[in-house]
Amino acid sequence: MSGAFQGKVAIITGSSSGIGKTTALQFARQGASVVINGRSKDKLDELRATMEEEGLSVLAIAADITAYKECERLIAETVKHFGGVDILINNASLTMNDTFENIHPDTFNQVLLSNTLGAMMPTKAALSQLKQSKGSVVFISSLAGLHGLPAGSAYCAGKMALTGFWQSLRIELDHTGIHFGICYVSFTQNDKDKRMLAGAGELVEVDERPALLKQSQEQVASAIVRCVRKRKAKVVLSRFGKFISVMFRYMPRITLFLVTLINNRRIAA
Ligand SMILES: NC(=O)c1ccc[n+]([C@@H]2O[C@H](COP(=O)([O-])OP(=O)(O)OC[C@H]3O[C@@H](n4cnc5c(N)ncnc54)[C@H](OP(=O)(O)O)[C@@H]3O)[C@@H](O)[C@H]2O)c1
Repeated sequence: MSGAFQGKVAIITGSSSGIGKTTALQFARQGASVVINGRSKDKLDELRATMEEEGLSVLAIAADITAYKECERLIAETVKHFGGVDILINNASLTMNDTFENIHPDTFNQVLLSNTLGAMMPTKAALSQLKQSKGSVVFISSLAGLHGLPAGSAYCAGKMALTGFWQSLRIELDHTGIHFGICYVSFTQNDKDKRMLAGAGELVEVDERPALLKQSQEQVASAIVRCVRKRKAKVVLSRFGKFISVMFRYMPRITLFLVTLINNRRIAA
């Protein structure tokens, strides 16, 4: 398989479904040897089989990326199989849909950890390999990483923490030649079976967003791949995302007023 990423090894965390899966496919179709990851081995095996049928170079590693030991194993198995690591896409995440008042501390912890340590631990474990390859690390954030949103306190806190982490690493590790990028993903089409965590940890359906505002998973994956290829630092996806980001930045009071108004109306309805 030839392409822009020929000879490169890319790990995409949380790639058994959704945006991660589409990103893994795009990297592999552009020549990369790809490591797919998630906690469910069955989902990974299914995707691995499909990718192998297409002739793509793939390794499936089930690992919980919030645990450092698991991340060390993820990297060690990748290096053993493919010889190194060039690209790490920190995509895995758990999403929530409940108020701070309702959410159980354990559920809060789970969401926060998956969005913070879940990106930080794989980066830590892969660092020496990435220094050797002068590779690329991309953090997958969200509009929730630009401003707090209702019913998503732990998710927003986690995605915002990623911004601080990304900024620290860009400065601290500038001399290593590693590229650190962050993508603020906007509303995106979800897999039909995607679920979010609510109060006591039960899984609930995802809130529908207006179809017009949603990007396809292919569009989002293409932006992530482009971020690596062009070694971009910060990408805000979609016209809607860019508009919201400008509003949050330059008109914070009006934006806060509008978001609060919408939320209060939702509660009253
Ligand atoms: N979809 C959107 O509208 C949207 C918008 C903005 C930002 N984003 C961001 O885009 C990224 C992908 O979102 P998505 O909608 O594609 O999510 P998704 O379909 O729910 O997929 C999440 C992936 O993460 C894996 N995962 C979760 N916790 C894990 C853990 N502890 N260790 C290893 N793997 C784990 C899941 O597999 P297992 O369950 O098998 O572990 C799954 O493969 C996330 O960072 C999300 O915050 C999405």
